[in-house]
Amino acid sequence: MNEGRNFLMPKNYKIALVPGDGTGPEVVAEAVKVVKSAAKRAGFGLSFKTFDFGGERYKKTGETLSDKDVDTLRDYDAILLGAIGHPDVAPGILEKGILLKMRFALDLYVNLRPVKLLPGVETPLKDKGPKEINYVVVRENTEGLYAGAGGVLKKGTSDEVAVQESINTRKGVERCIRYAFDYAKKTGRKKVTLCGKTNVLTFAFDLWERAFYEVAKEYPKIKADYAHVDATTMWMVKNPEWFDVIVTDNMFGDIITDLGAMTQGGMGIAAGGNINPKGVSMFEPIGGSAPKYTGMNIINPLAAICAAQMMLEHLGETKAAGWVEKSVVKAISKMDSLAAGKMGMGTSEVGSIVAKFVKESD
Ligand code: IPM
Ligand code: MN
Repeated sequence: MNEGRNFLMPKNYKIALVPGDGTGPEVVAEAVKVVKSAAKRAGFGLSFKTFDFGGERYKKTGETLSDKDVDTLRDYDAILLGAIGHPDVAPGILEKGILLKMRFALDLYVNLRPVKLLPGVETPLKDKGPKEINYVVVRENTEGLYAGAGGVLKKGTSDEVAVQESINTRKGVERCIRYAFDYAKKTGRKKVTLCGKTNVLTFAFDLWERAFYEVAKEYPKIKADYAHVDATTMWMVKNPEWFDVIVTDNMFGDIITDLGAMTQGGMGIAAGGNINPKGVSMFEPIGGSAPKYTGMNIINPLAAICAAQMMLEHLGETKAAGWVEKSVVKAISKMDSLAAGKMGMGTSEVGSIVAKFVKESD
């Protein structure tokens, strides 16, 4: 019978690699090493295809990410991205043309960013440890101030007017909020906090707040809470243990997740997933392309490895994802620091020991 055959057939995942700019290719190479090791042990297959979207291609061809490129990406089970950003390319071109284009065109409407302090990692927060710093931010990823609505009048004159509007659709807001509650339910988390600004942004966050409490009714076992964004940043520092799942709009989510990343050990470790629950999703370290460290074998690949770990989790390879997480913790115990150039080992060595630990992980 077909079912029996399928059951015995090992799964094979098609992964699109977008190493990108600067140190992106170096960290993606290490992430690939680690997921290959996990796949080998777990018995599933992986096939990789590398795409050259990034600053170098743009300089050569003037192309960022075409509609055809986007369609090609739809055929993959997941995308693993290194970094986008090139010192020779004006700010905004690659970010908008590649990263944001991918988020919008593939409708990656959730940016899932765990703020989790792993054992052995130093945090600047006094008296806080892995028990206190363990929450996820669900950032809306396709609307808000990022939608590109607005315009400019009389540019370059003393009468210049610049308008940048925040777009919030009921549908867009609701699906993001629903994702946050579903995520809480699935992962056994107890509380979802809406991070907004209902006291000033009385149009946008009125919509968010109504949608939030309506959706919350469908999840009676999960506590629904609200915090203004400014207060949220205070508590992320003073009482991070108050948070479980935070759901917020695109701009606030961008800002608070950089703060969150610092509290979990910095850009060397912070990862995120750009998720479309019904399509292809993209996983990335949340730091930049770090051009000054390019090609020196000193950048920390753990954030890319953690992004790959999230990718395995997303693909349903929970066991393999668990091995990777444990192996990252073990690798950290062998490293002097998470900072580039101060790890006490090179980029490729970090990838190699994580891959080795994955083979032996319990
Ligand atoms: C991020 C980045 C991007 C964003 C930039 C590079 C467009 O800061 O992924 O958080 O603002 O979303
Ligand atoms: Mn950001």
